[in-house]
Amino acid sequence: MKFFYKALPVFWMLSEGVLAGPWSAWMPENIVAFEGTCVVIPCRFNYPEELRPSVVHGIWYFNSPYPKNYPPVVYKSRTNIVHESYVGRTRLTGDLNSRNCSLQITRLSPELTGKYYFRGDLGGYNQYTYSEHCNLEIINQPSIVTPPEVLEGSEVELRCVVPDNCPEMKPIVSWSNHEGLKEYSVYGQVEEEGSTWSLISTLKFLPSRENNHQELACKVTYINTTFEFDAYSALDVKYVPRIVQANSSSEVIQGSPVVLVCTVDSNPLALISWLRDDDVLYEAQGGSLTLHVENITYLQDGIYTCVAENIYGKENHSLALTVMYAPWKPIVNGSVVAVEGDPVTILCSTQSNPEPIITIFKEKKVMKTVVYSNQLALEFASVTHEDDGEYWCIAENQFGQSSSPFNLTVEFAPLILTESKCTAARDTVQCVCAAKSNPEAVIIFKLPSRNVTVNETDREFVYSQRTGYTVTSILTLRGEVDSQLYIVCSAKNFYGTKDQQLHFHHSNSLMWAKVGPVGAVVAFAILIAVVCYVSQTRRKKNMNENSSFMQTENPPVIYSGDYKTPGNLEKSEVLTKGALGEAEIQ
Ligand SMILES: *[C@@H]1O[C@H](CO)[C@@H](O)[C@H](O)[C@H]1NC(C)=O
Ligand SMILES: *[C@@H]1O[C@H](CO)[C@@H](O)[C@H](O)[C@H]1NC(C)=O
Ligand SMILES: *[C@@H]1O[C@H](CO)[C@@H](O)[C@H](O)[C@H]1NC(C)=O
Ligand SMILES: *[C@@H]1O[C@H](CO)[C@@H](O)[C@H](O)[C@H]1NC(C)=O
Ligand SMILES: *[C@@H]1O[C@H](CO)[C@@H](O)[C@H](O)[C@H]1NC(C)=O
Ligand SMILES: *[C@@H]1O[C@H](CO)[C@@H](O)[C@H](O)[C@H]1NC(C)=O
Ligand SMILES: *[C@@H]1O[C@H](CO)[C@@H](O)[C@H](O)[C@H]1NC(C)=O
Ligand SMILES: *[C@@H]1O[C@H](CO)[C@@H](O)[C@H](O)[C@H]1NC(C)=O
Ligand SMILES: *[C@@H]1O[C@H](CO)[C@@H](O)[C@H](O)[C@H]1NC(C)=O
Repeated sequence: MKFFYKALPVFWMLSEGVLAGPWSAWMPENIVAFEGTCVVIPCRFNYPEELRPSVVHGIWYFNSPYPKNYPPVVYKSRTNIVHESYVGRTRLTGDLNSRNCSLQITRLSPELTGKYYFRGDLGGYNQYTYSEHCNLEIINQPSIVTPPEVLEGSEVELRCVVPDNCPEMKPIVSWSNHEGLKEYSVYGQVEEEGSTWSLISTLKFLPSRENNHQELACKVTYINTTFEFDAYSALDVKYVPRIVQANSSSEVIQGSPVVLVCTVDSNPLALISWLRDDDVLYEAQGGSLTLHVENITYLQDGIYTCVAENIYGKENHSLALTVMYAPWKPIVNGSVVAVEGDPVTILCSTQSNPEPIITIFKEKKVMKTVVYSNQLALEFASVTHEDDGEYWCIAENQFGQSSSPFNLTVEFAPLILTESKCTAARDTVQCVCAAKSNPEAVIIFKLPSRNVTVNETDREFVYSQRTGYTVTSILTLRGEVDSQLYIVCSAKNFYGTKDQQLHFHHSNSLMWAKVGPVGAVVAFAILIAVVCYVSQTRRKKNMNENSSFMQTENPPVIYSGDYKTPGNLEKSEVLTKGALGEAEIQ
């Protein structure tokens, strides 16, 4: 024992497999075996040559090297007395005389986990417990060793490590649930480490994102036994984000709510962003990102991109969002005030999507139209007063219509309208002069034969009224009228003056004027005769009103040579002879 204590520090540092000298032993530090199976702890020991023992005995202790602690005896060569846990379970496979202390333990159970010490017994005091010992570990599942990172597309190897330390029971290792792995292969190999053995089954494959979370199993069985030990490993395959679902380009109506969804498959979770024309609108980490636009406007028209990114890479998807809207109120631009004869261009422009049909109307009449254009030009090479008026520019597409009125104002010199004329009645001459112009004309009546002009300031003779661009002046003369009388209407504005002689509207009046006073007397005599004749005929016909009366319903006038001058106006006397004028005749 004395020797034992002295020897201990000396032999403490034994390198594995090498017996450094007397009183040294070698056995693996750790050994692993499956529950229910067996294990052989390889062991060698040494002692000083000079002892030359006749017989070598040995003892295996559990958990303590010191006999005085009464550790459980695992095996004893001198007697068969062992601790009850080891009865029938242990056997020395080595030959102690050959300094081989290898120990087999069968039907392993978890409580046998612990340290195993060998004690050599060479007779007498030459007993020695070697400090080298073996840790037995009893397990019930193999271990699957996975690489720290499993990346899509990079080949990986999964190892299922199975202790194989009992020659009597050889493990069989297999994989399951590995069907469907890309380019997989399985191969087995045996590895030795410090005289302990492992059977390693390696599963090699090319991982893909579909394999993420796939649970692989490694199974260990033994021939002619029901033992089965399983280990499971769920794959954590890392991969670049992939956009699995996102909207495609579409047309939306302005004002409507728009929802864009981007669904991403990625491990680890991606940072998803929605961008519009390179501006980030919204981003968050997750499996999908929804962009809500409550009320889309044309300003939000553009290219929308969903970008998904994690540390392994990124992917994007773009779509065009086209915002459709009704035309804006057209803007009318151009010269809307012009002088007759000028060239005029009026531009009506708007904005819409799709482009509108633009029509320019004037009083319900289509002036010009254009299809799918944002503007329409109405052109007049030379504008006339007839072009003056109210116009509408109307823009329309399937989403609505919008219109703007505009007035084209044409300024023009006076025009004397055809209704301008004089009408003579019994002792009155009424002359109407209507002139159209812009700006409004000033009308003057000229009576050259009397060296007189008159205008509306003479309310006694002239009355005027205005409608739009038309000024109508009515000259009323009473009393005698001379045959020389002729009346000129003169209309004037900034752009010019128009003079026109006013005709007496009845053709007979001209005839009477030419025939003169003598002729008139003759004619008057004839007329009397005719009247008498007619009167007689009438009586005969019982006052039958016939068509001959109708022909002469407008009375002719006769102008007398004399006139008086009441006030400043030389008033003419108008002699009226209704050919059939009842007031005269009857
Ligand atoms: C010890 O004995 C075992 C079992 O008989 C044997 O397998 C092993 O090879 C032996 N060791 C040495 C070093 O001879
Ligand atoms: C398994 O059992 C069969 C019959 O029971 C026997 O022939 C065979 O040798 C055994 N195999 C092993 C490895 O023990
Ligand atoms: C985008 O896709 C989502 C889900 O499929 C759908 O609800 C939404 O209406 C789509 N948005 C557009 C603008 O098409
Ligand atoms: C949509 O936006 C427009 C312009 O910003 C606004 O005039 C309109 O009231 C909004 N409509 C709704 C339903 O919010
Ligand atoms: C989208 O991907 C393409 C090609 O990978 C790249 O050129 C482009 O810059 C990306 N767009 C964005 C907004 O990230
Ligand atoms: C009409 O609009 C055009 C551009 O659309 C502009 O160049 C021009 O100056 C405008 N004319 C007037 C009279 O406003
Ligand atoms: C066009 O003229 C009419 C009649 O003078 C007027 O009522 C209308 O307001 C004018 N419209 C525009 C756009 O100036
Ligand atoms: C008309 O008046 C002008 C001058 O005011 C005069 O010279 C002319 O002789 C007159 N003519 C007649 C017919 O009275
Ligand atoms: C209209 O007549 C009055 C009186 O005779 C005269 O003073 C005025 O100048 C005339 N106006 C025009 C436009 O000729």
